[in-house]
Amino acid sequence: MDDLVSFERFMREALYHPEKGYYAQRIRGIGRRGDFSTWATLDGSLARAVAAWIRGRGIRNVIEVGAGDGSLARAVLSNLGWRRWWNVRYHIVEVSAPLREAQNKVLKGYGVEWHESPEQALQKLNGQASIFSNELPDAFPCRVFEKSASGWMEVYVSANKGVSQECLQSCILPDSTVFEYEFRSGSRVEVHESYKQWLDAFAPEWRSGEMLTIDYGDTIPRLYHRRPTGTLRAYLAHQVLTGMEILDSPGTRDLTADVNFSDLEKWGGELGWQTLDQGTLREFFQHWTPQFLIPAGFQDAAVAFRFIEQRAAS
Ligand SMILES: C[S@@+](CC[C@H](N)C(=O)[O-])C[C@H]1O[C@@H](n2cnc3c(N)ncnc32)[C@H](O)[C@@H]1O
Repeated sequence: MDDLVSFERFMREALYHPEKGYYAQRIRGIGRRGDFSTWATLDGSLARAVAAWIRGRGIRNVIEVGAGDGSLARAVLSNLGWRRWWNVRYHIVEVSAPLREAQNKVLKGYGVEWHESPEQALQKLNGQASIFSNELPDAFPCRVFEKSASGWMEVYVSANKGVSQECLQSCILPDSTVFEYEFRSGSRVEVHESYKQWLDAFAPEWRSGEMLTIDYGDTIPRLYHRRPTGTLRAYLAHQVLTGMEILDSPGTRDLTADVNFSDLEKWGGELGWQTLDQGTLREFFQHWTPQFLIPAGFQDAAVAFRFIEQRAAS
């Protein structure tokens, strides 16, 4: 890596460098015995609600992006039952080679097809598919900004004799709702601009269908109400690391930041996508699986997680 890089570049290399990146090579698994757990690896209620959404919307081609260890896909397909055999075709887009291998094992015999990118999957499906993800945008490299006395500055990382340090650089601000609000000096915010670029890349191929995005985060300005120093953190063996520890041993830990759902709505709107609904995951469950209670132990997560459902431009 060069001596001075934006935090976004640092995070991209740390997570996706082909030889040393955390997702590209080193992830040891997701779930209780892996590096971190997701809702889908701990409990079946999310898969049940996603399956109800697929049935309720009459979806025939599903593309799951970032399928982790395949737990969610398998549980969704099991919940769809007989319907999947002649109605639903299930596709996965996954960038991590170790996780694709794990998915292959877990989903043997389920008739799933893998693709390199949403563009490739959509080309194969004539642009007609519904797309869903759980905890995907938070895994995209983010730009980090700090409010200084002279305005917003971008966080950069410099490496000196193997020790990484932060510094601030002047910058051109990206397209984000976060800059529409006043922040105190010293505040930090993150922008998943690389996720916007990823949406922009496949949008021309997407002709019809819905997109369901589930992740932890909030709308602006609530996202930063109790987090004036931002939401960036690392996960290592189920431990949360913050501050300068985030920069230690790049490639050995997951890096993540909460998702700004106001940006997801704005960026989709700029592509002509219609927002059908958005809210907390609790509200998603109430809509799609009202007959089931949210399991004890998941009540807080049900409001920390949000969803947004968008429809392709027609
Ligand atoms: C935090 S994990 C979530 C896994 C899974 N959805 C779950 O709920 O257990 C993020 C997933 O997104 C994948 N991923 C990250 N960036 C991606 C991209 N650009 N395209 C496809 N998958 C991606 C990772 O490899 C991983 O499978």
